[in-house]
Amino acid sequence: MITATQETTLHTLTLPEELILMLLNEENGYFHQVPGWDLNCAIVGAVLGELSLLSRIDTDLESLFLVDPTETGDPTLDPILKEIAEEPNKRDTLYWIERLAPHAESIIDLTLDRLVEMKILEQHAGEFWTLARNARMGKFAGGFSEGTLVEFVKTRITKEIFDDEIPDPRDAMLISLVDACDVFRFMFQLNEETERRIQFIRQTALLGRTIAAAVAENIASPLLRRSALTKKIPNVSLRKLLFNKHVRSGNIPAIFADLAKEYGPVFAIKPPLAKPMIFLAGPETNHWVHRRGRMYLRAKDYFADFEKVYGANGVLPSLDGADHFRLRKSLAAAYSRGRLSGQLDEVYGSVREFLASWKVGEKHQATYMCRRMINAQLSPLFIGVDSQDIIDDLVKYKERALMVHIMKILPKFMLKTPSMRRRAKIVDTLLHRIQNVHTPAQRAGKPRSLADDLLSLHASDPQFVPESNLRFALSAALIASVYLGDAFSFALYAMVSQPELYEKIQQEADALFDKGDPEGRDFNLEAIDVTHRFLIECLRMYPIVPMSIRNVMNTCVVEGYELPVGTRVFIAQTASHFLEESFPEPFKFDIDRYKEPRNEHHGPGYAPYGLGTHTCLGSRWMDLQLTVNLLMVAHYFNLKISPSNYKLKFNALPSMKPSKKLNFLVAEQRREINV
Ligand code: HEM
Repeated sequence: MITATQETTLHTLTLPEELILMLLNEENGYFHQVPGWDLNCAIVGAVLGELSLLSRIDTDLESLFLVDPTETGDPTLDPILKEIAEEPNKRDTLYWIERLAPHAESIIDLTLDRLVEMKILEQHAGEFWTLARNARMGKFAGGFSEGTLVEFVKTRITKEIFDDEIPDPRDAMLISLVDACDVFRFMFQLNEETERRIQFIRQTALLGRTIAAAVAENIASPLLRRSALTKKIPNVSLRKLLFNKHVRSGNIPAIFADLAKEYGPVFAIKPPLAKPMIFLAGPETNHWVHRRGRMYLRAKDYFADFEKVYGANGVLPSLDGADHFRLRKSLAAAYSRGRLSGQLDEVYGSVREFLASWKVGEKHQATYMCRRMINAQLSPLFIGVDSQDIIDDLVKYKERALMVHIMKILPKFMLKTPSMRRRAKIVDTLLHRIQNVHTPAQRAGKPRSLADDLLSLHASDPQFVPESNLRFALSAALIASVYLGDAFSFALYAMVSQPELYEKIQQEADALFDKGDPEGRDFNLEAIDVTHRFLIECLRMYPIVPMSIRNVMNTCVVEGYELPVGTRVFIAQTASHFLEESFPEPFKFDIDRYKEPRNEHHGPGYAPYGLGTHTCLGSRWMDLQLTVNLLMVAHYFNLKISPSNYKLKFNALPSMKPSKKLNFLVAEQRREINV
C-alpha cells in the first residue's frame, strides 16, 4: 500500500520528468515515436502544468496568467516563468504553448540529464537511454514495492484509466499529455471504453484540453508552418572551394571550418553535372545531429549499395531504430575496453614481437607499418585468426568499394577489374579461416572474441543476424585496423615531431613498464595524464573520419534551414575542430585544452567518433589500444621523422591518413626487447 508520504516522495519528480519516463521506450533506447511538434507541445504543456501545480500560474478558458513570479529554482521551469512574467498582454494557453514550443528541445535535454543524475535513467554512448538497473522503487519511495519507478508511474496511470479511480489533477494532466502524444496505443490495447475514459479524464484537466487543441491545429498545417520559417541554403562558390588554403594539404575538416565561417552552418556545394550536396558544419549542427538526428536522419540508404557488395543487408552501421539499438547492445561487450583490458598480455606479446624486428637506421613507411602493427594485434583478438598475409588485399577491396558506392567518386566497373575480383575472393578465404577455428572444441577455454559473439548471435537468431551478413560483419572487423592504424600514424607523427612531448610520454611509459607489464587499471588518468590529453588532441587535429553521410527521412529544420525528405546530408562533424568558438587557436597543438577548467573536448564541437546513435562503438577499446602502442614505442625507441623536412599532408580518401611520404627512422633503441 502506498502511503501519503511515499506519494509525496514520488511527486518530487516533476511533470516533465514523469512525462519523459512515460514516453521512454526501452526497445529502442529512446521515446515512443511522437511526431515532433506534438512532443514539443506536450513537453511545454508539462512545464506549464508543473508551474500551475506550484501556484506560479493559473488558467481559465480565456487566458493563462501569472500568479506569483517567484523563481522555483528549477532550470526547466524558471526561463518559462520569466517569459510569461515579462509578457505585457493577456494571452491564452494555446498561444503560450505555440510560443514556448521552441524551448522544448532544451527542456528535454535538461530533463534527461537530470534523470541520469538521479540514477533513474542510464545514458549509453550513442545517445540511448534505458532505465538504470538500480532505479528500483525502493530507493525513491521508501522501499515499499518491487519494480522500477517507471513501472510505478505507468501502473499508477494504468489503474486510473482502468479502475475508474478519480485521478488527482497532476495525474489527469499527465494522462492528457501522454494522450496528446498518442502513445497510449503502444502501452495498452485500446478499446472504445478505454478511449472514452481517457477522453473523460482529459476533460477534467483544463490545461490538458488546451494542449490537445494546440496539437490538433498543428497537425492540420505542419508543412505551412515549416516553410514559412526557413531560410535559403547558401551555395558555395566552386572557385572559393578550390582556392581554399587547406586544399593543398588535404585538411578536409579545416576546409569545412572555413566554409562554415563564410556561409553558416548549412551550405550546399554543387559539383558540375551532379546534384547539390548539402553539408552541416559547426557545433550547433553537431548538437542537433547528436540529440535530434535519430528522428529525422537514416543511415540505411547511403550504406545500402556498399553492404550489397558483400551480400549483406542490415549490418550495424546501416540499421536504424530499435533493431540498431538491439544489435549495438548485443555487440557492446565485444567492442568494450573491458574485453581488451582482459587480454593485454596478448597485446604486449604482439607489440614486442613486431618491434623486435626493427633495426636502428631502418626507415618505415608510416601508414603501412602502423596498420600492420595494429592488425597483428586486432586480428587474433577480434576473429581468432592471423590475417597479416591478406589484410592489404582486404583493405584495398574495401577502400575501392567505399569510393564506388559511398563516396561515389569512381564508376562501378572499377570494382570489377581483375585485381578487384581476385581480392573479393580473399574475403571468402578469411571467412574459411574463421570458420575452421571456431568449432566449440577449438574455442573452449579461450577468451570470447567478436567472432564468437557474432556467430552465437547468428545461431540464436538467424533472422536478426543472417548468414548473409557475416561476410561483411567478420571482414569489416579488420577495418578497425585501418582506422586505428591511421590514428596511430598520426599519433606517432605528433609525438616524434614534438620532442618535449615525446620526452614526457617516455617518462610516463617508463614509469609504467619499468616495473613489469601494467594491468588495464594501471592506465589511469594519473599515470598517463600527458599521453591521454595528447591522444585527445591528436584526434582533434587529425580526425580519421571527418564526416558522416545520412538521408533525411522526415523533413526537418536545422538552424533555420529546411532539409526536405530524401535529401542526402553530409555531416562534417569535425569542421568544428578548426573553429575558434570551439577550440581557440585551432591550429595550435595544445594538450592543455583538456585541463580543468577549459575542458574544450566536453562541448559539441569535439566529434572524432561521430555523433548520435552510430557514434563509434569501439572508442574506449581504441583509446586503450592506441595508448598501449604509443607508450611501448616510446619506451623502446627514439624515432625521427623522415625526410627530416617532411611537412604534414593528408591523404583524405576514403578516410584521413598522413601522406605516403611520411616515414619513421629508427634512430635509437632505448632498451632490449624480451620477446
Ligand atoms: C581512431 C580510430 C577510430 C575512429 C576515428 C572511429 C570513428 C568512428 C566514427 C566517426 C563512426 C561513426 C560513423 C557514422 O556515423 O557513420 C564509427 C563507428 C563505429 N566504430 Fe569506430 N572509429 C575508430 C576505431 C574503431 C575501432 C578500433 C573499433 C573497434 C574496436 C570501432 C568500432 C566501430 C563500430 C562498431 C562502429 C559502428 C557503430 C554503429 O553503427 O552503431 N571503431 N567509428
